[in-house]
Formats: sequence, structure tokens, C-alpha cells
Amino acid sequence: MIPWEEIDRADVPGGEGEVILRKRGTEFSIRTDTTELMNSRLHGAEDALAELTCNRIARKKQHRILIGGLGMGYTLAAALQYSEADSLVTVVELIPAVVRWNREHLGHLAGNPLDDGRVSVLEEDVAAIISSKKSTWDAILLDVDNGPDGLTRQANDRIYGMGGLQKAFRALRPGGILSIWSSGADERFTRRLNQCQFQTENVAVRARKSGKGSRHTIWLAAKC
Ligand SMILES: C[S@@+](CC[C@H](N)C(=O)[O-])C[C@H]1O[C@@H](n2cnc3c(N)ncnc32)[C@H](O)[C@@H]1O
Repeated sequence: MIPWEEIDRADVPGGEGEVILRKRGTEFSIRTDTTELMNSRLHGAEDALAELTCNRIARKKQHRILIGGLGMGYTLAAALQYSEADSLVTVVELIPAVVRWNREHLGHLAGNPLDDGRVSVLEEDVAAIISSKKSTWDAILLDVDNGPDGLTRQANDRIYGMGGLQKAFRALRPGGILSIWSSGADERFTRRLNQCQFQTENVAVRARKSGKGSRHTIWLAAKC
């Protein structure tokens, strides 16, 4: 078997550990010391996050889409594919090195979505961007953790609590969708979404595009 080669490592802002970029043949991995955040072989669920969301946006023109977590750019590429040609997509990435890795090493994996003229990139915390705007986004897509608890960093927990969900509700336009990727189901989180006035749907998706691999959950929460 080809051994993993470390390409680079970088600090997670806030002093919450490091992320490491590794390569093995044509396969790439972004991981912390303990957990893999993203692997280039498995992106069926990341693609589905964008496809399912874009298909549910109520407004038909000039979508404004916010994506939390660039990773390897698969969700971003799928959002560009499944939204209208006049959409504007803002992708927010906490770790500046991840943006640089996409430009230097990873861009080809998802067809260089950062080069698309509809895309703007912010190197920030997506929680801060959500809090800063009202009635702005047709969709907010979150894939920043393994599910509704902070995996990359504990500070992400605030995104999934009642306060964070209420801010996301306010940040959406009427008919907008908040969608969240998760490695598994979580009934308590579904209840929290409903308590924040979202109309919530859970969709089970597979890790591989072929329909195989681990089962994951995507919440699609509509502001009706
Ligand atoms: C699982 S990866 C995203 C994978 C991505 N959906 C794709 O298609 O490749 C999670 C990403 O979210 C980023 N992230 C974690 N917390 C964040 C936050 N609070 N704001 C913005 N980005 C964050 C991580 O640095 C990482 O790049």
C-alpha cells in the first residue's frame, strides 16, 4: 500500500489544535490529530448537501447561498452546479491554510470551484457571518463538523444550540433553507430546529456517489 505523505499542517484559529493535509497516490485527506475531517474518496454526502438544498430553495432567481466549511470544495462545486447561473455563493472557511491548500493542492478534485466568478471566499468563522446578517441568504449550508456538535473546535457548539439556530433563522430570507451535514441522526437536534420555527426534514444519504458506503444524515430546515 502507498504510504501517506504529509503535505502541510496548520493551527486551528483559537488555539484548538492543528489540521494536517496528507496525500496517498491520488487520494487526499484533511484531518486533526485524532479525526479525519474530509477524504477525497468520499464526497457523495457533501455533494448531496448542496443538491438537496438547492432543489428546495423557494425563490427562483439570484440565489444568495452561504456555505460553512470549504474542506475540499465538493459542496461548493455542487452548489454551483445545482443553483441558478446568476447565483452568488459565499464560502466561509475558518482555517486560512485550507483555502490555500485548495488553491495549491486540492482545486482539481472538485473542478476548481474557487475560480468560478460567482464565488466569494471569506476566511472567517461562519457563526460570525450568520450572526452579522438578517434576511440575507436563500440557503445556509453547514458542513463544519461531524454533526450538530463542535468537532473541529468546541466553539462550533454555539452554531447548533437554540441561540445559534435562531440567528440562522433570522439570517435566512423567507422560503430559505438551513441545511446541516451530520454523520448520524440526532432526535434532540431535530426538536431544537422545530422549536426555532423551522419546518424540518431529515434525509439519509450515503458516503459514496454510487449509493454505497456509510449512512449520513442531512437536515433540511425551511423558514416557511
Ligand atoms: C468536513 S470539512 C467540509 C467538507 C466540504 N463540505 C467539502 O465538500 O469538501 C469541514 C470544514 O469546515 C471548516 N470549519 C470548521 N469550523 C468552521 C467554522 N466555524 N467556520 C468556517 N469553517 C469552519 C474546517 O476547517 C473544514 O475545512
